[in-house]
Amino acid sequence: MTVEFDPDSRTFLLSTPRTSYAVRVVDGSVRQVHWGAPLGIGAAASIPLRPDGGDGEVLGEEFPGEGGLRFGPPALVVDFGDGARSVSWRYESHSSDGPGLTITLVDDHYPVALELHYRVHGDCDVVERWAVLLNRGDAPVTVEALQSGAWTLPRRAGYRLSRVAGEWGAEFQLSRVPLPHGESTVTSRRGTHRHQTNPWLMVDPGDATEEHGEVWTVALAYSGGFTLTASRGYGDHVSVLAGPDHDTAPPRTLGPGERLDTPMTLGLYTGGGFGGASHQWHAYARRHVLPAPTEERPVLYNSWEGTWFDVDEAGQIETARIAADLGVELYVMDDGWFGARLSDRAGLGDWSPNPDRFPSGLGPLVKEVHRLGMRFGLWVEPEMVNPDSDLYRAHPDWVVHQPHRRRTEVRHQLTLDFGRSDVAEWAYEWLSRLLTDNAIDFLKWDMNRPFTEPGPPSTAAHTRNVYDVVDRLRARFPHLRIESCASGGGRVDFGILRRTDQVWTSDNTDPVDRIAIQSGYSQVYPAAAMGAWASESPNPINGRATPLRFRFHVAMAGALGVSGNLREWSPAERDEARALIAEYKRVRHVIAHGELYRLTPPDAQTVVVQYVLGGESVVLAWRVRGRIGRPELPVRLRGLDPDATYEAGERPYPGGLLLAHGLDLDLPRGDHASTLVHLRRR
Ligand code: GLA
Repeated sequence: MTVEFDPDSRTFLLSTPRTSYAVRVVDGSVRQVHWGAPLGIGAAASIPLRPDGGDGEVLGEEFPGEGGLRFGPPALVVDFGDGARSVSWRYESHSSDGPGLTITLVDDHYPVALELHYRVHGDCDVVERWAVLLNRGDAPVTVEALQSGAWTLPRRAGYRLSRVAGEWGAEFQLSRVPLPHGESTVTSRRGTHRHQTNPWLMVDPGDATEEHGEVWTVALAYSGGFTLTASRGYGDHVSVLAGPDHDTAPPRTLGPGERLDTPMTLGLYTGGGFGGASHQWHAYARRHVLPAPTEERPVLYNSWEGTWFDVDEAGQIETARIAADLGVELYVMDDGWFGARLSDRAGLGDWSPNPDRFPSGLGPLVKEVHRLGMRFGLWVEPEMVNPDSDLYRAHPDWVVHQPHRRRTEVRHQLTLDFGRSDVAEWAYEWLSRLLTDNAIDFLKWDMNRPFTEPGPPSTAAHTRNVYDVVDRLRARFPHLRIESCASGGGRVDFGILRRTDQVWTSDNTDPVDRIAIQSGYSQVYPAAAMGAWASESPNPINGRATPLRFRFHVAMAGALGVSGNLREWSPAERDEARALIAEYKRVRHVIAHGELYRLTPPDAQTVVVQYVLGGESVVLAWRVRGRIGRPELPVRLRGLDPDATYEAGERPYPGGLLLAHGLDLDLPRGDHASTLVHLRRR
């Protein structure tokens, strides 16, 4: 975790525990010379610059602009107002403070400067980068695009691109295809990534597996619209440009003396295959992103799939009593508690308890939930408004809209222009009041529609103010914990995870569908933050019937929650749920803080995942569909000590045997059989 400098070649070397990253300043251009296995500064300084591409194209720049021999996607597009649209950098200075490095460049002619920031950590291999554009002059500059930076990969044959794609109810579906020549863009113009994509990608030389091989991966720590463009040139030159801008993002004016900071882009190299990449991303999230990473997430109950919009004091109190008896630790009341919110058609924006449903306010319910020994959580959607609401009637100008154009509704709602400081302040005020008046411990912060009517206003200002309101709430209410939700997993990224404790992964709670969703989520994001509910059967979303035990075992792969109409669960179902929740509490520290091994692909007949933390390991196995003549194979475990003996219950297992022969799962007959095995070193 150091930064070294070779003054003769002007090469900087950033070292992480298992990787090195080297850049060199050549005139005003900062060029990457190495990203991979560890190197010394001498070796890094002697690496030749990447040869130019066709037509003399400059390759390998950390922050490619426009102009000159540059033909790829630019990190910066400026308009100086006199016809000049390109920048021409020269090196000004650099500074280094142990884990951080800043290289400052200035333009040859115009009074603008650029800082390239780098930071590494001693406990994971992620390289953090961001840029700052400064206007040092006395005239405004128009910034048409400002991205976080570009990453260059070493030349290898056969590059492949991995990413996730999806839809509502089917988030995080992993896609792995050959990386085509030209530009492959992962982008969102929806204001957040929504379900269709997520701001990360991985590139490997075509031969990486779950356990072996080189993988380079790039992410953006940002919750707004974004672009990640992987460019592959003819000579297998591959680079990835990452940043918050996309082709419908409006230009910004950078006034005299002002600065623009980009979100962080994150790069990770591993020689340990896709599983190794996941280990590093999870370690990074746990050690440097999540605000309260050492806490265990409480087992929560959420009212959504139990009562939908039909919440009231008596019904919630009755359900809370059952939930407490099952071992639930956090009771979350979802949508329907406020204003005229009897359905999704009205009331959004009117954040006081519905007087028919909660005649004495939320106080009696919150008090009872606390008396039962649980924490209390509440659903809110602060960035949105129903046109049929008092808020909209009072402030029709507060929504994102364009003059003379229809205000596009999605789910009967409009987006508040949260980039406006008065709107953001209004949200901060009512949220603060709600939290002060009601001893609320947890918010499920939802966001149920994409942006339409591309700006201005810019979604960048919106995103910044959402972050700001959340940060201020957390500072003022330090006990407050927050779940990020956007119609399920529509806002899950390292930007929001820095200020929330967990995410709602998908509105699809069917355990079979959920296996692929959770597997895609786990490529980059940690189990500690993955909200997962055991819900009803048949599942309300897709109608599939599954056993209670299977639903719980699938949901135990993350932060376990329960939803459904508990009042209708039979005594036998409640007994089983109580036992499963107790079982989860005994192992959740291993799931949340351990290393995850995906032992099978997510479409296997029986899917198995394993978590290892010190001398403990948890194996979760889910048989999706049994087949005659295809018994389960023993699953060879990973990350164990071959010389140690482990036990599950009373039964001893030599570590070497579990690694070499594997664990026999002994699942009962039938579809949707499942098991949890908790191994402890003797
Ligand atoms: C979104 C969320 C759900 C639920 C509903 C409430 O769809 O993803 O979990 O909170 O809103 O309207």
